[in-house]
This record gives sequence, structure tokens and C-alpha cells, in this order.
Amino acid sequence: MKVTVVGAGAVGASAAEYIAIKDFADEIVILDIKEGFAEGKAMDLMQTSSLNGFDSKIVGTTGDYSKTANSNVAVITSGIPRKPGMTREELIGINAGIVKDVTKNLLEHSPDVIIIVVSNPMDTLAYLVATSSGLAKNQVIGMGGALDSARFKYRLAEAMDCPTSEISAMVIGGHSDKGMVPLIEKASRNSVPVAELISVEKRQEVVEATKVGGATLTKLLGTSAWYAPGAAISEMVKAIALDSKKMFPCSCFLEGEYGLNDICIGVPAVIGKNGVEKILEIELSDAEKEKLVSSAEAVRKTNGLLDE
Ligand code: LAC
Repeated sequence: MKVTVVGAGAVGASAAEYIAIKDFADEIVILDIKEGFAEGKAMDLMQTSSLNGFDSKIVGTTGDYSKTANSNVAVITSGIPRKPGMTREELIGINAGIVKDVTKNLLEHSPDVIIIVVSNPMDTLAYLVATSSGLAKNQVIGMGGALDSARFKYRLAEAMDCPTSEISAMVIGGHSDKGMVPLIEKASRNSVPVAELISVEKRQEVVEATKVGGATLTKLLGTSAWYAPGAAISEMVKAIALDSKKMFPCSCFLEGEYGLNDICIGVPAVIGKNGVEKILEIELSDAEKEKLVSSAEAVRKTNGLLDE
């Protein structure tokens, strides 16, 4: 398994680190446009291999896409992150052009790669890659739901004062402050619905804290978060590498599922060696459906900016 991570910024470097530590990839290529930066990150990470006990080889390059040749998976983290007070949607002007160029360069050397889009606004940029790359729709996956669900589990565990390992919960919909749909009615602690364990007010608080999970961190850190995004990316890459058929909510190109067409948005999907192996159409309550539909409307509005 060869994995390329485009963008050696905080999210890209964190993804590369977790992928390395999990030790399922033969080779990890980190590519950045800033002279020497990816080489430096790769060297620093390689020097942790004897300490962390992994055998993956990590290579860094300044813009030389030939080094990424024959990648099985490529993760696109390039572009600018948001600053405090900014929405993910405000990044589209700069990031759309970057992601388009990166995709073209990647495909020249790895025509059959599976692309995981992380750059924001993620759902719209996943849509851009899905519709402009010529790749099969299952080969383009947007990373948002895995991260948002991890943040949801963190908030639920905090509210119930229990370990996150006891929580099962998922966030679908757009990867945006307003568009996320945390499925609180389906969340459970060891199979007990959280509705039986915490009050309706507490549940509402958890939902709201989850939706602004990224913004809260951006305010604290002065830039967007990286550990949880990196870990979420590494879990998705691992599911592809090991063909584990693990279920993640992620941004998939929809062709009628959930009554939606011609859009990438977060839905539960089975991830394996072919990327999106299957989109799962789970039963949603009327309230959940309504939220997903309005989230899709917001994503479509941002998609509309791609034509400008
Ligand atoms: C976040 C970015 C990765 O939510 O979108 O932290």
C-alpha cells in the first residue's frame, strides 16, 4: 500500500504520523509546495520509526509528483485552513483551484488512485474532484463524518462521564457548522439509547457543541485542528488498506440515495479496498431527514460557487 499525503501542514503531517504509527503502509509520500518542508517532516517522522516501532518508509518531496507514482490512496489536505471566526465555506475561492490542480497532478502518476478530500469546504471540494477527475464515484471520498462523529462521541462521553469506547454515535450531513446532523436519537452507550441516560437539554447541548467542534478548536488554537482530523484520515486509509469494510459516515457522491442526486455529502458508507464499497441507506426519522435535506441545500449553494 502506497499512500500520498498532499500538504505537509498540520493536518497532513498528523495524518502521515498516524498512518506511519499504525504501520499498514509500505510507503508514505508527503508532498508540499513549500521548499524543503515535506522533506523535513518526512525526515523528522522517519526518525521516530525506531522509537514508535513502525516499518513504513516516509518520503518527502517539494512538488515532485513523480514520487507519488502508483499511489493506492492520496489524501488532499492542501489549501488554507480557516482562521478564528471564518466558516469553512469562505475558503472556497483559494482552495478550489488548488484542489483541482493537485488532483490533475496526482492522476498523471496514479490514474487509479482513491482520493480522500480533506481540504475545506470539504463536501464541495469532494464534489469538484468527483465530477472533474474522471475517477469512478467510489474512488472519491470526503473526510468529515469520521471526524465529526469522533467529536460527537467525545461530547457524549463528557456529558455521561464515561469512556468514549462505550459510545456508538454518528454525524451525517455536510461538514459545516450549521449543516452537520448529529444522529442523537440513534446514539447509544453500550446499546442503551442516550435518550434514556441524559436529559433533552443535555442532548441538545451535546449536539450544538458537536456542530461547532471545529470552530471551537480554531478559536482556541488560532488555526484549525489537526490531531483528530489526522487520526480520522488514518482510520479511513487503514480501512482501504486492510479492506476492512468498516462503516464511516463520509462525503460520498450520491445518485438517488436519501433522495439526493449530484452532490457529495456525509452519509454512512462501507469503506474497503475499492474506496466506497457501499452507501448504507439507514432509516432516518422525519426530523433527521429534514435536517439532511436542508444540509444538502446549503452544500449545493456552496457547490454553485464553483462555477463562478
Ligand atoms: C476541522 C477541519 C479539518 O473540522 O475541517 O477541524
